[in-house]
Amino acid sequence: MSSESFENLSYEDRTFLPSQTFIDNANAKSDIYKEADTDRLAFWEKQANRLHWNQKWNQVVDWQLPFAKWFIGGKLNASYNCLDRHVIEGRGDRVAFYFEGEPGDTQTITYADLLSKVCKAANALKELGIKQGDRVAIYMPMIPEAAIAMLACARLGAMHSVVFGGFSADSLLSRIQDADASLVITADGGFRKGAPFALKPAVDEALKGETNVKNVLVVKRTGQETKFDTSKDIWWHELVDKQSGKHECEFFDSENGLFILYTSGTTAKPKGVYHTTGGYLTQAAFTHHAVFDLKTEKDIYWCTADIGWITGHSYVVYGPLINGATQLIYEGTPDTPSKGRLFELIEKYKVSILYTAPTLIRTWMKWGDEYPNKSNLSSLRLLGSVGEPINPEAWMWYREVIGKNNCPIVDTWWQTETGAIMISPLPGVTATKPGSAMKALPGISAEVVDDEGKAVGNGRGGYLVLTKPWPSMMRGVWNEPIRYKETYWSRFEGVYFAGDGAKLDKDGAIWLLGRVDDVMNVSGHRISTTEVESALVSHDVIAEAAVVGAKDEMTGQGIVAFVILRGGIESATGDALVKELRDHVAKQIGPIAKPRQIMVVAELPKTRSGKIMRRLLRDVAENRVVGDSTTLADPNVMKLISEGLKTGKSED
Ligand code: WT7
Repeated sequence: MSSESFENLSYEDRTFLPSQTFIDNANAKSDIYKEADTDRLAFWEKQANRLHWNQKWNQVVDWQLPFAKWFIGGKLNASYNCLDRHVIEGRGDRVAFYFEGEPGDTQTITYADLLSKVCKAANALKELGIKQGDRVAIYMPMIPEAAIAMLACARLGAMHSVVFGGFSADSLLSRIQDADASLVITADGGFRKGAPFALKPAVDEALKGETNVKNVLVVKRTGQETKFDTSKDIWWHELVDKQSGKHECEFFDSENGLFILYTSGTTAKPKGVYHTTGGYLTQAAFTHHAVFDLKTEKDIYWCTADIGWITGHSYVVYGPLINGATQLIYEGTPDTPSKGRLFELIEKYKVSILYTAPTLIRTWMKWGDEYPNKSNLSSLRLLGSVGEPINPEAWMWYREVIGKNNCPIVDTWWQTETGAIMISPLPGVTATKPGSAMKALPGISAEVVDDEGKAVGNGRGGYLVLTKPWPSMMRGVWNEPIRYKETYWSRFEGVYFAGDGAKLDKDGAIWLLGRVDDVMNVSGHRISTTEVESALVSHDVIAEAAVVGAKDEMTGQGIVAFVILRGGIESATGDALVKELRDHVAKQIGPIAKPRQIMVVAELPKTRSGKIMRRLLRDVAENRVVGDSTTLADPNVMKLISEGLKTGKSED
C-alpha cells in the first residue's frame, strides 16, 4: 500500500524562459512576488486602485471564515469602470470589440460606441422596471449584445445570471427559478456550424414553468421566424434603439452583487456561484494586466471563451474592458466553414494574445498542422490556456505550431468560484515547464496538502487548497450558505478546497492532476487521470486521451483508456498499437500506470465547455448503462463509443 495521497509519476525537465525583450517590456516584473509577500493587503489595495472608485474603501477585508468582504465602504460602478472612464480620458475612439459573426458579417465597436449602446440598454432595462439587486437572466449567442446586456445590468446595480446558449429549456428554467429572475434577455437565435439555431423557443418552453419573469427582451440576430407573445416579449431594437445614449450611473457598494453564474454540475443541482463587485473587478483587472501582459495601444486580444462561462465574464467582459483592451469576439465554431477558421481570424485581425482551452488545442492537433500552417500567425506574442490540465505534448504543440517558438505560454488555473486566475506563470518572469501552471500569483496563497491537511512538500502529490481569502472569491452559493460551507470549506479545517488534485515537482512548481473524484486507485496507488492521459498524448499517434478507473477484481481498479488518433493516422492499427501504447505509458511513468485496456475512439464525451466527462466513460468501462448524458456537447458520442466497443474490444 502506498501512503501517498496522490502518486507523483511524471517527470519533466524542459523549461522555457521568455525572451530578453519580453522580460524587459513585461507588465509584471519579478519583484512583484516580494512586494505582495511583504504586505499582501497593501498589494491588493494597490491593485484596487486600477479601478475608479467614487468613494474610497475604509477597510480592505473583513474575513469571517468562510465569508469575505473586500474594500468595505468603497463605492464604484462596474460599467463606468469598463466604459465611461475610457471615454472621459480620451480613449473613446479606441476599438473595444471587433466582432465576427459565423456567416462572416462584422462590426467594429469603439469604446464610445459601446458606452452609448450600454447606456441605451440600461435606459431600456430601467423602463422595464429593473433596479439595483434585481436578477436578469441572459441567454444569448456570442454577439456584442451579450456583453452589452451584462454591462447594462451592472450599470443599474442589477445582477446578471448568464446561462450558456447551448443549455436546454430545463436548465434555463431551473436557473431562472433559483435566481428568481424578473427579466430574460435573449435572441431569436444565433449561427453555429453553418446554420442558424433558435434560442427563443427554449425561453418560451422554460417560461411555461413557474417564474416571476415579467418580460423577455429579444435581440434579432438571425431573422428567423419567431413566436412572439406581445404581453411580455419585446424586440430589443424596438425598445433599446430609441433610448437616449446617455445614462448617468449610480455608484454602488463594493459588495453589491454583480452576478450569479451556475456551475454546470454534472449530477448535483447546479450551484449559483455568487460574485460581488469591488474585489472581483480588482482581481480580474490585475490578472488580465499581469498574466496577459496587455499593451493597450498595440495588442489585439482574443479569448475564445463564450460569455456563458466565467472565462467570458472575467476575460472577455470585465478584465479586458477595464484595462481598455481591443479584442476580437467570434460567434461561431472553429470548424466553420473550414478547420482553419480561427487561424484565418488571427491573421485577419492580427491577434497578438490568444487565450483558449486545451480541448481546442488537442482538437487542432487531431485535425493536423496543415490548417494553422495555411495562415500567417506571426502577430501572436502570447498564448494562454485554461479549463483543464494541458498535457505537456499539447503544450509543446501549442508552442511550436501556433506560437512558432516565439510566445510565452500561460497555463492559468482557476475556477468559476475563484472568479479570476489564481495559479499561472507570469509571462515575463517565469521559466515555464510544459504542462505546469507553475505558481500562485502574487497575493494568492495556494498549497498542496495530504489527507490530513498537512503540506506535502516538493516531489509529492495531494489536494490543492487555497489558504487565504482573495478579492475575487465567490461570496457564497446563492441562497445556500450551508451548501457553500460544506462544499468548499469542510474537507480541511480553515482552508478552501478546490476539488482538484495537484503535485509539487522537485522545484516546487504546481502540476494540476484533475478532479479528485476522477482519481484512480490501482493496488492502493492513487493515480491521477491527468498523468496517464499525458503519457498517452506524448506518443506521436495520439491527439487526445481520457482514462478512467474501472472495477478490477485483482487490483481494485484497473486503468481503462480511450484515445483519439492524430490526423492522418490509420485507425485500424489494432493490437500492435495497443501494446505499443501500454508499453509507452509504462516507460513514461511506470508499470503501475499501464492501462488494462485501450480503446481507439473517434470522439470523447465532453461538456459544452470542453471538459471530458469521465463519469460516462466509467459506465462504459464497467459495462453499465450509461448515466445522465444531457450535459454533453454532442449527445451521440456515447452511442458511438458504446457501439464501437462491442465490435472492437482491445483488451489483452
Ligand atoms: C475547474 C474549474 C476557470 C475557467 C474555466 C473553468 C479545471 C481550470 C485549469 C488549468 C488544470 C484546470 C480544474 C478547476 N481547470 N483551469 N489551467 N489546469 N485544470 O472553470 O468550469 O469553474 O472549472 O477546471 O479542475 O477546478 P470551471
